[in-house]
Amino acid sequence: MFIGGIPGMERVMQSDVSPPYLTLVTGPPGSMKTGFALSLVANHLRRTGEFGLFCTVEETVDSLLKSCQSMRIDLPPNLQITDFTELRKENEAMDYLKFTRRMIQHFKQERGHAFTTFVLDSLGAIYSLTTVDADMRKRMFGFFDFLRSQGLYTLIVTERQSGEHAELQGNEGFIADAILSLGLDRRNGKIVRTLQIEKMRHVNHSMEKQAIDASNGGISIMGPLFD
Ligand SMILES: Nc1ncnc2c1ncn2[C@@H]1O[C@H](COP(=O)(O)OP(=O)(O)O)[C@@H](O)[C@H]1O
Ligand SMILES: [Mg+2]
Repeated sequence: MFIGGIPGMERVMQSDVSPPYLTLVTGPPGSMKTGFALSLVANHLRRTGEFGLFCTVEETVDSLLKSCQSMRIDLPPNLQITDFTELRKENEAMDYLKFTRRMIQHFKQERGHAFTTFVLDSLGAIYSLTTVDADMRKRMFGFFDFLRSQGLYTLIVTERQSGEHAELQGNEGFIADAILSLGLDRRNGKIVRTLQIEKMRHVNHSMEKQAIDASNGGISIMGPLFD
C-alpha cells in the first residue's frame, strides 16, 4: 500500500505492509495529514481496484474535494467519502465509534473482501465530541481491535505538535502498527515539508526525515534531509 501509494516510498521502506495494519498519520495543523491520506488511498485504490472508505469528521466533503483539486489528487470511484461533519452538530451523546463500526460492517457486507481500506480523519475530532476518560479509552481500544478484526488497512489521522509523544490521549501509539510524523522544517530560510517514519512494525525502514513534495499531483517523497 505505501510503496504503491506514494512515489519515492520504495527508497524509505524495504518491503511493504499487509493488512490488518493500523497506521497513525500525525502532525501539526497544515502538515498535510489529510492530503497525505487522500493521496495514499487514492493511488492504492486506483491501482488495486479495491474499495475504500474515508470518514471525514473535521472538514466537509466539499472542502476535501477542493483540496484534491488544488493538489491534483484524482479520486477513484471505488473510494467512498462519508461526511461526519453533520453528525457533529446533532446528537452529542451519539456513539460515533459505534456508528462507524456499523458503517464498516455495512460495507463489509456489501463489498466483502474488496473492502480493504479505511481512513478516519480525524481522531481528535471524535475526541473533541466526547469526554476522554477511562471508559472512552477502553472503547477506543475496542474500536481499534474491531478495525483489526475486519482485516483493513486503516489510517487514523491525528493531530500532534512536533516533539510531542505519540501516546496521544488514549495511548494509541502503543496499539498502532505504524506512526508517521508529518511536519514542517526550516532549511536555509525555506520551509520544507517532511515525513518521518517513527514506527512501522514488520518493516525495515529508514528513520531519516524525508522531504516531501505536493506539487506533482498528490504527495511524493523527494529524499532524506540532513542536518
Ligand atoms: N496545491 C498545493 N500544493 C502544495 N501545498 C498545498 C496545496 N494546496 C494546499 N497545500 C497546503 O496544504 C495545507 C493543508 O493540508 P492538509 O492536508 O489540510 O493539512 P492537515 O490535514 O495536516 O491540517 C495547506 O496549509 C497548504 O500549505
Ligand atoms: Mg486535516
